[in-house]
Amino acid sequence: MAAKVIATATDKGGAGKTTLTMNLAAYWSTVEHRRVLLIDCDPTRVLERWHARGPLKEIPLLGNIDEQTITSAIDDNLDAYDVILVDCAGSEGQVELFAFGCANLVLIPAKAAEPDIAAAARTHLKVKETEKMMNARLRGRDTFTIDTRIVLTMVSKSTTVARHADKLIRAQPGLIPLGTLLRNLVAFSESTFRGSTPTLDEPAGAAAYDIRRLAREVGHLVGLPDFQAAAAPAPATAAS
Ligand SMILES: Nc1ncnc2c1ncn2[C@@H]1O[C@H](COP(=O)(O)OP(=O)(O)O)[C@@H](O)[C@H]1O
Ligand SMILES: [Mg+2]
Repeated sequence: MAAKVIATATDKGGAGKTTLTMNLAAYWSTVEHRRVLLIDCDPTRVLERWHARGPLKEIPLLGNIDEQTITSAIDDNLDAYDVILVDCAGSEGQVELFAFGCANLVLIPAKAAEPDIAAAARTHLKVKETEKMMNARLRGRDTFTIDTRIVLTMVSKSTTVARHADKLIRAQPGLIPLGTLLRNLVAFSESTFRGSTPTLDEPAGAAAYDIRRLAREVGHLVGLPDFQAAAAPAPATAAS
């Protein structure tokens, strides 16, 4: 089966795109043992530097990818991976539009705040315009869908704010929030200094819990085959 291509995008800087990319890669690669490819399209190379620092170097990464190389970087690797994660820049440009065109799903992180949700709506519209462009070329012979989901992130303890944000998202046509949200947890920032993620550093902690739920929801959405935890060895039976 061809790799599922998931891009993280929004023109709001600091919304949590790279964090989402790192954490999904770490979970799918180390817990579910899926073949993951990371693609860094952000010229500031945050993902690439994090990757070079730490224990997740084993995950292949293509860095310095721009509009001249993105489509081939994805297309040439579809058969060799289960998931291709594309981390987009904070200012959406041509490379992001090509990434949308190759994606099964665009995850749009947003803090529970109006400017983030407005930015998420802009990104969603760009994804849908890309989808329209591709369908126009297909002239009804087939239909091409690029799903989007808004990921509420850095959510503080106040559930009222999260509820307001959820309502604001649902009020806009086509915007769908992911069921799982990511809490504002210092473990997410801390582990980046080690080139790691909470899934490795604190697998029983709250951040790893959020990511596990989120990765399972996203995996289900894009149709990754179900993950079967390695079966526990059968208990030894006494010889009769
Ligand atoms: N759920 C979270 N809880 C706490 N800090 C977070 C969370 N998600 C992201 N961060 C921190 O917020 C900052 C911006 O996140 P980042 O993923 O780099 O955003 P973007 O890629 O959209 O610019 C980083 O310092 C990151 O560690
Ligand atoms: Mg980033």
